[in-house]
Amino acid sequence: MRQQMTVEREHEFCYEIVWDDTFSGLQEAVSSLYDSGRKACIVTDTCIAPLYLEKVRSSLQPVFAQVTDFVFEAGEENKTLDTVKKLYTSLIEHHFERKDVLVALGGGVTGDLTGFAAATYLRGIDFIQIPTTLLAQVDSSIGGKTGVDFDRFKNMVGAFHQPRLVYMAMETLRTLPDVQFASGMGEVLKSGLIRDENYYRWVLENREKIAAKEGDVLIDMIKGSCRIKKAVVENDPTEQGERAVLNLGHTIGHAVEKLMDFQMQHGQCVALGTVAAAWISWKRGLISREDLALIEQGNRWFQLPVTVEGPKAQDVLKATKSDKKMEQGKVKFILLEQIGHGIIDRSVSDEEILSAIDYILGAGDRA
Ligand code: GLY
Repeated sequence: MRQQMTVEREHEFCYEIVWDDTFSGLQEAVSSLYDSGRKACIVTDTCIAPLYLEKVRSSLQPVFAQVTDFVFEAGEENKTLDTVKKLYTSLIEHHFERKDVLVALGGGVTGDLTGFAAATYLRGIDFIQIPTTLLAQVDSSIGGKTGVDFDRFKNMVGAFHQPRLVYMAMETLRTLPDVQFASGMGEVLKSGLIRDENYYRWVLENREKIAAKEGDVLIDMIKGSCRIKKAVVENDPTEQGERAVLNLGHTIGHAVEKLMDFQMQHGQCVALGTVAAAWISWKRGLISREDLALIEQGNRWFQLPVTVEGPKAQDVLKATKSDKKMEQGKVKFILLEQIGHGIIDRSVSDEEILSAIDYILGAGDRA
């Protein structure tokens, strides 16, 4: 059953998020945006192209004068300026003009990279997000953060550029590897933890239906996360303040992701970082020991880690402090005042960060 929701900020942006079981509504959703005579380029990677490129192309062909594609090698290591450069070259070769459109078909890497190319090619052209991973559906495809990694610094170069449409086909989640589904659950749990306790508990209660990928439950779950993200992004699109709460688990999570050489999924690292943030929140007396235990149990229920082996605590601290979320030399940390309420805190000390890192490295009794 098709559903939709509008993301809107007066005079700045307005776009629909559409959820459907399949791609059958894509043509209609796109044709409501564009008149004839434009070109579209579908940007996708070598994993997604064999699965969905032709389906998406046949939905777009009746709407656009020409539909080209740009397929790049899958993997975070290709989320670089070099790939963007190759995409610019392809767009120039196909005479793309400012009224033409990019279509990001894939996960977070594809969406971020395509969005960045769209933000910068000819000083900005339209783009459409068709996220095919749970992580991209619940987080990265919404809100206009675009960019690439630089010199192993994640998302170091980028721009805010909102999509014109986000279209999610649930069928893509049925071909998604389990580890990537679990990674998306890391962001789902994060959404509930920062803004909506009832939603968080509903996700935990429905864990079996979610694991079975029951269509209606999946749409309800994804919509719930998108509703939270929409509210935050509409209030603070360029992260001047409140939007930073979406980074719960990301400060230490990004550090681990980098030190593990991007061999762990983003959402797994976010889930680990969330345990670290919950540990500090508990140490400060903000949440109870039971809340910390529930957060760890939530991770386990969705095949997400609560500890990691490998990195050294001092290296994680150093990487945490080189994260771009620093502000005037201070780490902008997201803590939990309670389950369902994240807060931004600039006073977390190195000692507190180190003790949280030790905890996720397996030291101390588990909650
Ligand atoms: N993923 C965090 C944000 O969109 O702000």
